[in-house]
Amino acid sequence: MDRRAFLKLAGGAAGVTAGAHIAAFAAKPSPDPLQLRIQTARFRIRDAVTENMVSTAPDAPPPVLRVKQGDRFVADVINAMADPTAMHWHGIRVPNKMDGVPYLTQWPIIENETWRYDFTVGDAGTYWYHPHCMTMQQMALGLTGLFIVEEQRDPGFDGETALNLRDFRLGKDGQFLKLYSARKAARGGTLGTVMTANWQQDPAYDHKSGSLVRLRVGATDTTRIYRLSIEGADGKIIAMDGHPVREPVAWPTENAPLVLGAGQRADIALVMPAQEGKTVVLKHHSGMRSRTLATLRSVGQPFKRNLNELAALPSNEVPDVDLGSSELIELLLGWSPDGLKPNNGLCGSLGYTFWSINRKPWPGDAVKDIGPIAELKLGKSYVLRVRNESPNIHPIHLHGLVFRPLRSNQRKLPSNWMDTITLLRNEVVDIGLVADNPGNWALHCHVIEHQKTGLAGYIRVS
Ligand code: C2O
Ligand code: CU
Ligand code: CU
Repeated sequence: MDRRAFLKLAGGAAGVTAGAHIAAFAAKPSPDPLQLRIQTARFRIRDAVTENMVSTAPDAPPPVLRVKQGDRFVADVINAMADPTAMHWHGIRVPNKMDGVPYLTQWPIIENETWRYDFTVGDAGTYWYHPHCMTMQQMALGLTGLFIVEEQRDPGFDGETALNLRDFRLGKDGQFLKLYSARKAARGGTLGTVMTANWQQDPAYDHKSGSLVRLRVGATDTTRIYRLSIEGADGKIIAMDGHPVREPVAWPTENAPLVLGAGQRADIALVMPAQEGKTVVLKHHSGMRSRTLATLRSVGQPFKRNLNELAALPSNEVPDVDLGSSELIELLLGWSPDGLKPNNGLCGSLGYTFWSINRKPWPGDAVKDIGPIAELKLGKSYVLRVRNESPNIHPIHLHGLVFRPLRSNQRKLPSNWMDTITLLRNEVVDIGLVADNPGNWALHCHVIEHQKTGLAGYIRVS
């Protein structure tokens, strides 16, 4: 696609209008741009130093980015790699131009090029960032980081730990194995061999005994669906996908773990054990096995804090769905018609097509000749009926907007605002949203092998 065709496509939804969640904040002067230099890195994850990683520093994970709600975020993404890239701010409702999706909202950032992102952050909560070009490689090799937006008013915790949960596919020598296979891409996706939190195996963090801690957990793996429990503490889940909960989410236990699909986040308030030396552990459960992902340790004299001392987090500005006037849109997630060869744009293809939305597989990066899955009217309410006809699990993510599940054919889902929903095998979920942010918004499975072999598309809001 040439530059003119691209501009025409992007021009179709050229609104830079800020949503109501941004309009509430006074315009801020531009801070000095943060520099995010995408580069090759090395890091000791296990016994040996792993080479050929991708990060924003030569020897460290991508940093936790922190801004205050209502502030302006300005970052220069500098591409110091041979492969192109593009940066996406997952879950943050930005103007479409800042969304970081190659060909849909911007050009790929090629070697030695810099791309400036500049937006006001309207939503408080736990978000994350990752590339949306060479996504399979760059994410699997390390480039995923948390993006924390602090509430305007301090919610009153004594401490905080943020955990970026992800796998690495490393061999015994500590070096990367093949990142994916066709066989796995056509099924559940390829899992890593080493489970990490903040690039470490079972890291421990100290907090004052009896203190109130905010635990932020982000699932940034390319594939893994986490089933989490928290042992050793009382607490509650206060936000999902960044947004304070409207309906309670059950406390995660071994028998009823919290399912966090690739892309999702949870904010958890907990009270540290009163006794010094006691621990709180975050575990992942798969089948009969469980594994500790991270540990919190009580230290010092007890604080004697109580969960009831926490006021509810103020909700982000999200217009509620008007079910009376809403229109129904059906999305079928399933197999792909045969014979489609993915196009090989700058942003990488896995070389296969296995998946589709409404039987239309996404052909690769370049959006030429492929229209939106659906066209939505700005300001109108919609119900998306998302039907998973496959036996595999799909965490489905929508850019630019938030939605809440209304019903499932299989279970009771708390109706909380989210940007990613994990569909179980053969599950049908209705999600409701107001199309309040204009632009072309990507919608795809966050198992990157599914995304890159067809399970992707976009909706247009205008
Ligand atoms: Cu987190 Cu389109 O992605
Ligand atoms: Cu996103
Ligand atoms: Cu999927």
